[in-house]
Parts: sequence; C-alpha cells; structure tokens
Amino acid sequence: MAPDRSEALVLFGITGDLAYKLLFPALYVLEDTGELDVPIVGVALTDLDVDGLRDRARASIREQTPDHDVAVLERLVARFSLVAGDYSDPATFAALADRLDPQAHRTFYLAIPPTMFPVVVDGLHAAGLAGRARVVVEKPFGRDLASARALNAVLRTVFHEVDIFRIDHFMGKEPIENLLSFRFANRFLEPIWNREHVASVQLTMAETFDVADRGSFYDAVGAMRDVVQNHLMQTVAMLAMEAPGSTDPDALRAEKTRVLRSIQTVDPHQVVRGQYEGYRQEKGVAPTSTTETFIALPVHIDSWRWAGVPFLIRAGKTMPTTQLEAVVELHRPPVELFPAADGTDPEPNLLRFVFQPRDLVVLSVQGKRPGEQIVTVPVDLAVDLGSTLGTQEPAYARLLADALAGNPSRFADEATVEEEWRIVADLITDPPPVRPYARGSWGPPEADTLAPDGSWRPLWPSSPPAGG
Ligand code: BG6
Repeated sequence: MAPDRSEALVLFGITGDLAYKLLFPALYVLEDTGELDVPIVGVALTDLDVDGLRDRARASIREQTPDHDVAVLERLVARFSLVAGDYSDPATFAALADRLDPQAHRTFYLAIPPTMFPVVVDGLHAAGLAGRARVVVEKPFGRDLASARALNAVLRTVFHEVDIFRIDHFMGKEPIENLLSFRFANRFLEPIWNREHVASVQLTMAETFDVADRGSFYDAVGAMRDVVQNHLMQTVAMLAMEAPGSTDPDALRAEKTRVLRSIQTVDPHQVVRGQYEGYRQEKGVAPTSTTETFIALPVHIDSWRWAGVPFLIRAGKTMPTTQLEAVVELHRPPVELFPAADGTDPEPNLLRFVFQPRDLVVLSVQGKRPGEQIVTVPVDLAVDLGSTLGTQEPAYARLLADALAGNPSRFADEATVEEEWRIVADLITDPPPVRPYARGSWGPPEADTLAPDGSWRPLWPSSPPAGG
C-alpha cells in the first residue's frame, strides 16, 4: 500500500536554530520547485506572533539564499501559522488540534532538544493528534544503545515503526547517494570491490571551523556522537554494503543494517581522540572538558568481502581544510615493471569519492612520462559530478519532501541506529584519553599510527600531507 501523503507539516521548534539555518532554506527550495503543497504549522515557546515568525523566515532566506525570488518566499511564508506555547502544557496541543484539519494526514517534525521528545510525543498522543501521522526526529538519536532503545520505546508507544523517520542528513546528500549509483549502476567496479583488490579505505570528514556558538551542545556530544556514529557509519555502510535485491526502501535499509551487523565493535585501544587547543575556553564548554573534537578509528568488517581491509575513519574540527572524502586504496600490481619517474615504487591506484566541498570521483592511476624510458607519474582521471550533471538539491529539501511523501529510503530505521550504537559501545564506556592538537593541524600525531604506511593519504587535490 502506498504511504499517505501528508497534508500538513507541523514544525516543533520553528523558532530555533535548525529551522533558521536549514529548514527554512529547504522549504524555500520545495516552494520554488512546486513540491510544497501543505500548510505549515509552527509550534514553539516564543513571544513571536505569526508575523514575527514570517519575518524570521524572510531573514533566514535573505541570509542564506541571497538570490531568492521574493514571490516564492512570500508564497512560502503565507503557508505559516503559529501555535506559541509550552510543550508540557496540554493547552498547546489543544490549540494545535484547532489548527489542523481533523482528517488531514500530518508530519510532525521535532526540531527540538531530544530531552523534549517524550514530552511532545505524550502531548500529541493525549490530544489525539498522533493517529494519521508520521514523526520526524532529529539527531542525536540517543547517547548510547540503551538511551536509543529507550527513545525508540517512547516513540513506539504512539507511532508505528513505519511512521518514525529518523534524520541523518548525510543520507539526503546527493554525493553520498551517488555511491549507490556509482557502485550498482555500473559493472566495472564490482569485480574489484573486495579484499582481493582493496587494501584500505580512508574516510575523512575535516572541518576548518571550531564549535563556534555550539559549545554547550557540542561539549555534551563530541565528534564521535556528533558525526561518526551516524553520518560516517552510514557512509561506511554505503561504501561496503552488498547490492540490495531491489530499490524498495526496506531492501536498501536491510542491506545497510546487514553490513553494519558485520562490523566489529570498535576496540577503544585502537582509537585516537583529540581536542583542539583552546577548546576548553569556548563558550558553553566545561573548563575541564574531556570531550573530543577530533577522532580517528579503524572499523573492521567481518565479511567474506571485507575481512582484513581496514576502513579508517577520522573526523575533526579546526582541520587544515573542509572536506569530506573517501579514499579507496587498491593493492599494488603483483609485479612493478615500471618505476616511478623519481626511481621509487609507483603509487598504488586510488579511487577517491570527494563528497564535499565538491562532488567528484577521481581515479588516480600511473601514466607514462613522455620520453624514451618507460617510467610513470601519477595522473588523475577526475570528473566533477556536480558541474557535469547539474544542480544538486540540498539534503534537507530532499529529506523534507521524502518525509511529506512518506518515503523512508533516506531515513535510518531502528535496527540501523542500534547497530551504529553497538559498534561504538566500548568506546563510550571506556574512552581513551583525549590528546591536545594545534588548530589547523590534522589532529594528534598519534592518529597517523592508524594509517597503513604511518600517514593518511592526502586529500584531493593536494592538501598538506596528513600529520604534516
Ligand atoms: C552536523 C554536525 O550533523 O553535521 C556538525 O552536528 C557538522 O557538527 C555537520 O558540522 C556537517 O554537515 P554538513 O552538511 O554541514 O557538512
């Protein structure tokens, strides 16, 4: 049976940061493309009235979509209404019920702190609003396996699993999704996509910026919970999963869960945690904080395809560059007939997926240097998918459209989230010490010891060598 299309979008936390930075711009995109055909009811504890809310949305779009079309923006804000009230007050939900067509299917989007999820879910239930509805919850989904299960239990008291949409916005990113088409819409990769040919996979999420105004959020979370357990684990799953039996959302999610299940629980002794210098002085950060702003770890997949191939992950703030990239290193040829031009062994082949800031696929190979002798130099066969194939929709626009349409493909299911927490469980109970690192560096030097040759592959095209 086709899922119900929602006929109303209810946005809890509409006056918050997430709405301002990501959801308003995403809704603008959907208004512009004609994909938005529902009223938007905001709920928040706020002094604003609906005009104030519309002004806030206008300011957000002016700031983040400078070349916007005013007519589109006005069409968008005309959809808004606002219920101002406390989430723990039944009157808030009574007022919300008055705003909604009782027959209409709704999407409730919870852009609120996770501690408020149970309160809002109870409120919806008590007001009889949760019937024909789905709920979208923002990350972080729990702090560990136990709290994720508890949160699931709260949601499941009121919503069916099929109606729970857990956001991991990396799954809405076109370049990440390209992994699926690149791997499974082509024939050439599959025969070499295994331990016989792949030596290692290095996944880096580097960000030049610090925690800025997010100190109090970040200090309670850290790099592992912020981006590894969710975003980067999903990316590993996309890199390593088997081909799904069909494009059915359940088939896709089942394959991801299957590969996550075969990942060993990470050994804390193999993990390097770092904290940039000056982090403890950031606003909202505890002066004795041991929260990591950098983490590097190996992931081992116990499967016939991947056993023995390290998948290395590193993520950090205040890095030398902002880039998200997976470098897949192939084994060297069995016999090196031709030396590199400088007399050394030629570089192994590398297949790079550069997801951000541009969407590129790059194959680094050896080419003959012109001249009498056959000596090689590395050359890149690179394609910029973003500029070749056209404009990409922002992740949140795609996720909002999917949520309204009831398409769960790009959302995490319960089993996936639980596996992700299981993989990092020992790291949570027994974290290694946090090591200082200089801003603008690649994290503590100890992180290099995880890489097969003692240093991570530089990111494309030529950022400074890792650790350098
Ligand atoms: C968020 C994290 O989920 O993802 C941030 O909380 C991180 O710390 C961000 O910077 C990165 O996502 P994007 O889409 O901005 O690259």
